[in-house]
Order: sequence, then structure tokens, then C-alpha cells
Amino acid sequence: MRCTSDNPKTAPHSDEQKHPSLGSAKLFGNVQFIYELILAQLELQSLGAAFDMTDEFSSFTLLNVVDNERLRRRVAYFQTINGASSDYSLISRKNRTRSVNQYLTHWMYPYKGKFHPQMIRAALNIIGLESGETVLDPFVGSGTTALEAQLLGVNCIGLDASPLCVLQSKVKTASHEVARNIRAYCEELPRLEQADVALENAALDLVPSTADQRIQDFFHLAKLIALSDSVRRRKDFASAFVSRTKLMTQSIMDYDEIRRELGLSLGRVVIERGDARALPLSDNSIDGIITSPPYAIALDYIKNDAHALQALGLDTHEIRRQFIGLRGRMNERVHLYNEDMKRSLEEMARVLKPNKFALIVIGNATYRGSTLESVELIAKHANEIGLRLTKSVNKTIFGLYNVMQKEKVLIFKKDEECI
Ligand SMILES: C[S@@+](CC[C@H](N)C(=O)[O-])C[C@H]1O[C@@H](n2cnc3c(N)ncnc32)[C@H](O)[C@@H]1O
Repeated sequence: MRCTSDNPKTAPHSDEQKHPSLGSAKLFGNVQFIYELILAQLELQSLGAAFDMTDEFSSFTLLNVVDNERLRRRVAYFQTINGASSDYSLISRKNRTRSVNQYLTHWMYPYKGKFHPQMIRAALNIIGLESGETVLDPFVGSGTTALEAQLLGVNCIGLDASPLCVLQSKVKTASHEVARNIRAYCEELPRLEQADVALENAALDLVPSTADQRIQDFFHLAKLIALSDSVRRRKDFASAFVSRTKLMTQSIMDYDEIRRELGLSLGRVVIERGDARALPLSDNSIDGIITSPPYAIALDYIKNDAHALQALGLDTHEIRRQFIGLRGRMNERVHLYNEDMKRSLEEMARVLKPNKFALIVIGNATYRGSTLESVELIAKHANEIGLRLTKSVNKTIFGLYNVMQKEKVLIFKKDEECI
């Protein structure tokens, strides 16, 4: 298959066509799904490369002269460009877990329904976000978009209705800035391990309330992860807290190290509690949107995280009322979900700059035995409010088999004139 670049600056000229192979891009071995192959091609195209696919779908021949160094630094699905390791292959090696995509701080907190980080790096490339521009994720969840944007030098605004999501997204993207201070506090951990006290409180006593907020947030999240371990895996809190804190500290040290090794110029990240139906942002102010709305109608996020939300001192009934997909009962719930989805889409259209892109990952969930046609609803409403569907890619999902098997990656472009 041959593909030429959409980018007029880099489309092949007759001179270049005399040199059909000007380089190579080798896919990661774990790229195994059709949607990944499609996204890999879209990212190459957006980065200005024309290519041929070769070698049983494991590598591409580059056909035009693009900025190979920029390609090497930005790609998500390619292990090497012209034989040189991509930045992503070096970043994703900094992984303290057994799961290939949970590198750096991505693993922190067991959140259901996370994005695959590699896909988000590719998405940032596909919608053409440059370093210094700003991406919005109005349903930031566990912070995947924020962390991937930060690594690529793209600024990110992440909002979520859940204070637990706000906390984890902040910790994942800010703790590396105070990694050494955090490591110094960890010297106290052996003392805690010995302590025969109510460790849940001792865990927080580790840092004074006057300490930098990023440090306090870090230990707060460590406590919540340990709580989650003790509730879900029946581990004892003290050892869970000590081992999680050590692993978290190693992960933020890794982040700081790779940032320096690769000379990454990180994007600025702002994470706040907010409502996607009423964004605290000006019209036409955002360069791109990458998000996935709640599957809440199928997945009860509040119930899943009740122990952590309560430990944060929050009223779960109050939060439930702000959650898209959890308002109302039975048929009213479906109606409210659809209305809330439309409102959040209108808000995305309002804040996005004209001619810029919104990439939304969404599936049709099953609720009370019926399939909800959220994909169709979103696509239809988007068209009515000036967001044109430019691409739709089918994607398989895992882990939610009973409520959803497939989802779609929808890419919309905002009209020049938008209502
Ligand atoms: C599918 S999850 C997003 C997961 C995210 N993509 C990630 O990688 O972790 C959807 C998120 O929407 C949030 N949410 C629900 N109602 C909301 C609202 N009204 N405004 C903003 N966020 C909301 C939930 O807390 C949940 O974290």
C-alpha cells in the first residue's frame, strides 16, 4: 500500500520520486490490531511522511524527505526511524510494572477505562498539535491525555468531575518536579513499616501540612492506592503503603531522568475539577481536543472508587449528581445521559478554534439489555453544531466485555463558521 502525505510542504516532488526509498520506519512488535495500524499510518501522514508498507506489515518505507529527526522524536507506533530508536521507545522502557503501556507514572492508581497511552501520543500527532499549543481533555479521568501531551511539549487542560481523578492526574504530571524532595521523605518509610500505629494516619503524618502541595498530593495518592490494594486485594495497609510509595518514587525519578536524558521540553499541565457541560474556557481558545466521555451509564465510577472518595472526605451522593450517566433511573437515565452528552459536545465545539480537531473515543454501551446508540447520537449532533466527521476508526476494547466490546475513534474538524 502506498500513501502520500497530505501536507503540501512535504508531499513528494518529482526529484524525490527518483529515490523511492529514503528511509524506514519500523513498527513496535506489539502493534497487532487493525486500528493501531490505521493510527500508525495516520500519524506518519500527519507528520508529513509519504510511505509504502513493507515486510509483512512490520515496517514502512519512507518515500519522501521529511524531517526525520522530528519524526523520530514524535512518533508513537514506531520503534525506530532509519534504525535510530524513537523517543517513545526510550520513554516506554521506563516502566516499573508488568504491563507494557503503564510506563512512567501512568500506572499510578487502578482506574478503569483508561486510554492506551500510545494511542494518545499518536492522536496528538494525528490532530497536528505542535509543542506550545494546548489540548483539552474535558473528561481527563486518570490523566492519560495530560501526561502524553506533557511528554510531547503540548500544553494540556484536563478537567474532571471527580476529585479523585483530579488528584491522580496532578500527581502523575507534577510529582517529578519535586522528585528529590519526595525521595528524602521516603527515608522515613522504614520507621513507618515498624510502627505499630494506625498507619493510615501515620502515612499522612510523613509530610507536614506546610510542605509543597505537590508533595502532599503525592503521599495522599500513595495512601489511596494502598487503601485500594487493601480493599480490592486484601493486602495489609502498612506494607501496601510502603511498597506503593517506593514504586511511585522510582517512577517519578524515572520521569525526571528520561526528561533530562532526552532533553524533553515538557508541556504545561493544568488539572482542575470541572464540569464538561460548562467549560470554564473562552470561545475559540483551544487548539485540539482528545477525550473519551464517561461510559458511566454502563460503568459506575462512583461505586468503583467509593472507598477512595470517602477517604478523601467527599460526599459520594453529591458527586453522583454531577456525573454524566449516573443521573436519574431507568429510561430517564438514558434521556439525561444523551442530553448531557449533547451539552458537553456543544461546549467542546464552542471552545475549539475553527479548523482544529476534536478526537473522541466512544462506544455504544449496553444498558438494561439494550444498546445505546451514543456513537450515532454524537456524530449526528456534532454535524448539527459545525463539527464535521473527518475520520472514524473501529477499535476493539478489553475488560468491559459485558457492557461494551467495540468503540470508535471519531475525528471531527470544526467549521470556519460555527454556530
Ligand atoms: C471514560 S473516563 C475518561 C478516562 C480517561 N480517558 C483516561 O485515560 O483515564 C470518563 C471520565 O468522565 C468523568 N466525568 C463524569 N461526568 C463528568 C462531568 N460532568 N464533567 C467532567 N467529567 C465527568 C468521570 O469522572 C471519568 O473520569
